[in-house]
Amino acid sequence: MNKRVMSAMNTQINREFYAAYLYLAISAYYETLSLKGFASWMREQAKEEQTHAMKLYDFVFSRGGTVTLLPIEQPEANFNSVLEAFEAALDHEKKVTAWIHEIATIIEEEKDYASRTLIQWFVDEQIEEEETVSDICERLKMIGEHKPALFMFDKELATRQTEPVQE
Ligand SMILES: [Fe+2]
Ligand SMILES: [Fe+2]
Repeated sequence: MNKRVMSAMNTQINREFYAAYLYLAISAYYETLSLKGFASWMREQAKEEQTHAMKLYDFVFSRGGTVTLLPIEQPEANFNSVLEAFEAALDHEKKVTAWIHEIATIIEEEKDYASRTLIQWFVDEQIEEEETVSDICERLKMIGEHKPALFMFDKELATRQTEPVQE
């Protein structure tokens, strides 16, 4: 496997696990507010990030590469509001998008055609992720300090199920 691509993917595995860790920290914060729906949504999101990491993990092996697991940084855990915690997730998704695009550039530079389909999956996935998280942030801004609306939204978010990752 191309060494530059392999190293970039190993770094991305770590970032996906960090995302899972951050979303679990946000979930824990929502638990302290008794917002069970928000907590379970973020917990599902944390699971999804782990499947992203594993998708890269499996790919590296399928190409005859080696996986190196790097230390996972401690995530931010102090948030001042429901919105602020969700905005932390949006900020992180934007960073992930930029990193995915960097990897796509490396793949192009190295002419690693075998990795193109996989990275394109991540490019598309990021469009969806940013859109979903940003929609929720917008709704939270509309809700503002209106507690009944917040509790209704919490109920709605509780219905989220883990989506199976497309191969
Ligand atoms: Fe991800
Ligand atoms: Fe994500």
